Amino acid sequence: MAMWEKVWKQDKIAYGGDYNPEQWPQDSWEEDMRFIKLAHIDTLTLNVFSWASLQPSEEEYCFDKLDKIMDLARGNGMKVCLATSTGAHPAWMARKYPEILRTDFGGVKRKFGGRHNSCPNSMVYRNYSVKLAGELAKRYQDYDNIVAWHISNEYGGECYCENCEKAFRVWLKKRYGTLEKLNRAWNTSFWGHTFYDWEEIVLPDTRSEHIELERTMAQGISIDYRRFNSDSIMECFRLEYEAVKQYTPDIPVTTNLMGAYKPLDYQKWGKYMDFISWDNYPSNEDSVSKTAFNHDLMRGVGGGKPFILMEQTPSLQNWQPFNALKRPGVMRLWSYQAVAHGSDAVLFFQIKRSIGGCEKYHGAVIDHAGHENTRVFREVAELGLELEQLGSEVLGSVGTAQTAIMFDWENWWAVEYSSGPSVNLKYYEEVLEYYTALHSQNIPVDIIGEDSDLSHYKLVVAPILYMAKPGVDGRIREFVKNGGTFLTTYFSGYVDENDLVVTGGYPGKLRDILGVWVEESDALPEYKANRFVYQGQEYPAKLLCDIMHLEGAEALAEYQEDFYAGSPVVARNSFGQGQAYYIGTHSNAQFYRALLRAACQEQQICPAAQTPEGVEAVKRVRGAEQYLFLLNHNEAAVEVALTEPALELITQRECQEGEVLELPAKGVGILKRRGVANDPAKSK
Ligand code: GLA
Ligand code: ZN
Repeated sequence: MAMWEKVWKQDKIAYGGDYNPEQWPQDSWEEDMRFIKLAHIDTLTLNVFSWASLQPSEEEYCFDKLDKIMDLARGNGMKVCLATSTGAHPAWMARKYPEILRTDFGGVKRKFGGRHNSCPNSMVYRNYSVKLAGELAKRYQDYDNIVAWHISNEYGGECYCENCEKAFRVWLKKRYGTLEKLNRAWNTSFWGHTFYDWEEIVLPDTRSEHIELERTMAQGISIDYRRFNSDSIMECFRLEYEAVKQYTPDIPVTTNLMGAYKPLDYQKWGKYMDFISWDNYPSNEDSVSKTAFNHDLMRGVGGGKPFILMEQTPSLQNWQPFNALKRPGVMRLWSYQAVAHGSDAVLFFQIKRSIGGCEKYHGAVIDHAGHENTRVFREVAELGLELEQLGSEVLGSVGTAQTAIMFDWENWWAVEYSSGPSVNLKYYEEVLEYYTALHSQNIPVDIIGEDSDLSHYKLVVAPILYMAKPGVDGRIREFVKNGGTFLTTYFSGYVDENDLVVTGGYPGKLRDILGVWVEESDALPEYKANRFVYQGQEYPAKLLCDIMHLEGAEALAEYQEDFYAGSPVVARNSFGQGQAYYIGTHSNAQFYRALLRAACQEQQICPAAQTPEGVEAVKRVRGAEQYLFLLNHNEAAVEVALTEPALELITQRECQEGEVLELPAKGVGILKRRGVANDPAKSK
C-alpha cells in the first residue's frame, strides 16, 4: 500500500479542520453538521484543547462529551484527526503541582494561564499527558474513522526552571560523558568558566550567560541548551506517541509544526513523526516565495514522508497587529499552493468561531452570523466541491527537484548567536534570498539538512554553512567530485558542531572544495556598500565582504572599491567533475537570480514551466502522471502558453500544445499529463 493511502486512509484530498463543539451547546451541533456538509468538509480535527473537561480532577476522567462528539462525527461520515488535548494543562493541576508551570527566560515562574505552558521536564506533566493520550487511544481505538493522531498542539517555547536545569545536566552527561570533554567543547578556559562539578552548570538565560534572547557570552552552552530544549519537548511528543501506538498501532501520528520556527529542530523531530503536518499563517505582505519555502521546508523535514497542511485561516487571523482579510480567491489560491508543494490535505483553523476568548475574531468557516450566506463560507464550499471533484488526482504524488537548499537548525542558532562580525547576519533571511531566486524562476527545490544524502541532486546551495557538522564536508566533496554543483557563501565552514573554530584558514574543511582561502571579512553598516560586476552587470556587495585568495578557483567577479578593490568576490572552482561556487558577500535579488540561472543552466536544470512574472509553476509526479500547478498570484489575469497537450483538471478541459491558458487574477490551473515516465532524478 502506498504511504499516502495509509495516512488519512484517503481517497481524496482531505478537507476540513479544527472543530470545537465542546465550546457550544449540544443543540447547535446538528446545525453545524449541516454547514460542514454544505462546505464539502470530510475531516474534523477534534479535541485540541479539552484536557480540563476530560480530566476534571486528579482521580477522574470524564469522556461523556467527547463520546457524543465522536459519535456525532462518525454518524455524519466524518473522518477524525483526534488530538490528545495536552497543549494546555488544567488549572487544578497547576495549583496542585506548580512544578508543571514554566519559568521564563527572565527567571519568572509562570502562573496558570495561556496555553503551551507546561514544563517539558516536569514528570507530573509527562505522566499525566501520557496517561491521557493512552486513555483516549484505549477508549476510541475502535472508531475506524480516526485517520490520524494529533499530539498536543504547536509545541514550542522554552523553560528555565529548576527541573529543566537538573534535566539539562543529565542531558549533558549523556552527550559529553565527562566534564573534561564538556569543558573542551565549550572552551570554558575562556573567561575562566571551567566547571569542576556538574552541579555548577546553570541554564543560559538573562540571569547567567545572556544579555538578551539572541545574545550570549557562551555560544557552546547556549546552543546546547537549544538542543536540549528541543529534545525535551520532543520527548513529550514521543512519550505520547508511544502511548497512543499501544492501542492503535496503525493510526499515523503527527503534531502540527510551525514552519521556520527557530526554537525546535524540526529536522530531528521529523524522524519521529509518521507524517508531517504544519500550520500556515502568512500575512498578506509575505512573499509568495516565503510561503513556498515554508512548505518545502516542512515537506523536507519528513524526508519523503507524507505531508499535509494542518491549519490555515479561511479569512483572517486575530494575532497580527492588523488582521487583513484574505482577498477573494486568495484562500483557494494558497490552498492549492500547499497542495502544489506536496500537501495531501487542506485544513482550516477553525470550523466555527467561538464567542469568547482571544480567538473569537479569528476567521472560521462558520461565522458569528450563524448562516451560510457569507463570502468566506461560499469560498470554502466552492473549494470543497472542487476538491471533491478532483477525487484521487494528485494524491501521493511527489516533487521533482534536482536542486536542494541546505537549511539546518543548529547552524541557524550558531550563526545568530555569533558575536560578530555583524549583527545583521540573518541565516533564515539569507537562505530565503537564494530560495527566492530559484523559486521565482520555477526551479523546484527540496530543503534538506546537513546530514542529507546529496546524490539525488545536481545543484546544492548552502547559504552561510557556518557550522559544518562532522561528515558534511565529506558528503559535499563526494557530490562535487561526482559532477554536482555546490554553492556556498561568506561565513561558511568556520566552526564545528561545538561552535569551535576550525583553525587553518576559512572556510575550514570546505577550503579545498571551494579553492579559496578567506583571509579577512569586512562588515559594512547598512548604509554602506561595495560593488562588483558579474556577467556585465553591476551589483552591490553588502553586509559582509570577504577578502579572499584564490587557491585554484577562478574569479567571476571582483570588488570595485575600497582597499580590497580588484580582489575576488565571486569565485568558481572546478573540483573533480563538478563545480563549487563561493559567494563572498551579500547582494541583491537580481544578482541571486542571475547567479542561480547560470548555475542551473550549467547543470541543465529546467524550470517546472516558463510563466509570466508572478505565476508560480510547481510540478508533482506520480508514476507516469504529471501534475503541473499554475498559480497566478497577480492582481490581474494572465495568459500562459502551453508547451504540451494536457487535461486541465478543474475545468476538465483538454488543452492542446501551443494553446494559451487564461488564468484570472488569483486563478489556478492544474494540468495533467499522462504517459510520461517518472523523472529518473527523483526515483527516491
Ligand atoms: C495556531 C493554533 C490554533 C490557533 C491558531 C490561530 O495555529 O494551533 O490553535 O490558535 O494558531 O491562528
Ligand atoms: Zn522546566
